[in-house]
Amino acid sequence: MKVFVAVLVLCAIAHTSFGMTKVCEAKKGKKVVTFSETAETTEFPCKYNAVRRTKCGEWLVTVTPGNDLETDKNKHYVIKTLWVGLENMTNTLKWEGRSTLKIARKYLDNLKMAPFTRKDGFLKTEDIFTYGPRTADNQVSLIEKNGDFKITYNLYDPDGSMHKSSGFRFECFSDTFVPTAYPQQLCGNGTESEVHKFKKSMEWQDNRMATLFFNIFTNDEIAQTESNCLTSQRTMTNKCGTKEKQYMAAKLCWPIVGKPRYQRCISGNMDKPISAFRHCVEYVCSDYKDANSCLALGDELDMCPTLDTITLKVRADCKPDLFST
Ligand SMILES: *[C@@H]1O[C@H](CO)[C@@H](O)[C@H](O)[C@H]1NC(C)=O
Ligand SMILES: *[C@@H]1O[C@H](CO)[C@@H](O)[C@H](O)[C@H]1NC(C)=O
Repeated sequence: MKVFVAVLVLCAIAHTSFGMTKVCEAKKGKKVVTFSETAETTEFPCKYNAVRRTKCGEWLVTVTPGNDLETDKNKHYVIKTLWVGLENMTNTLKWEGRSTLKIARKYLDNLKMAPFTRKDGFLKTEDIFTYGPRTADNQVSLIEKNGDFKITYNLYDPDGSMHKSSGFRFECFSDTFVPTAYPQQLCGNGTESEVHKFKKSMEWQDNRMATLFFNIFTNDEIAQTESNCLTSQRTMTNKCGTKEKQYMAAKLCWPIVGKPRYQRCISGNMDKPISAFRHCVEYVCSDYKDANSCLALGDELDMCPTLDTITLKVRADCKPDLFST
């Protein structure tokens, strides 16, 4: 009996340590399922490091999706771009390239030879990859030549179920698999509840989304290309000062892009939610002293739902006629 119980306990321990999958994927444009199978929401129209220099076989793999807000209904996020960086660990030679909704669509429609465009690095595409079949439903993929990993990019279908199909999937098949830890990569290192543990360690237990935004926009290793994303990142990184203030900016401003009622109201008034987010970050990081960001944000939030703390401050500081619903 004792032996039996011991075996059960051992099995339980073994199961936990092998609980990590070698898959990380995004679904519906906004939910990333990490290597430890927890779900993280990525509702911002900017880039993030899903996978960053994760060891898989002989490779260091980086996968950086770029989100955007689908403009038609203005409440769905879709993955508009997928940047992939690979480095051979033995000789440090690289391949860097990307796909976009358009590149992938053209490949599927036989208008383009490859679903990913090589951007940089010494390695030649044909020496390291094969591509998945064109027949695949709204998806393109890269398959490493030795079968070490596969990276899939799922397009969204504008005529069908919209954002639902939008995603990516990274899957490592090699026995050599060492994922980088959160927050360097959102997919994490396969340890359970890393985001939760991070929050606790920073004593920021109250706001999971704020923690995520803090990590994305204080990470200057992500090459943000959209100008408002870039300015938000630079403001957070260089101008905000203390961690507490950076966190406060993340906490007060994320609902502008992360909550449908703000996104839709701001877009409905023909303004851009990411621009309002940027002005909000600039305003909070300036200790509410930057008059320009106050005015711009006031215009963008006018006639929209009240945003905690921010609406009142803006009204008091620079825009007395700010109307909120
Ligand atoms: C990585 O580089 C080494 C050394 O040049 C080479 O032998 C190996 O085949 C490369 N790996 C892959 C997967 O191309
Ligand atoms: C995984 O990452 C967390 C922090 O995100 C760290 O505390 C933990 O030690 C890491 N585990 C391994 C096995 O590297």
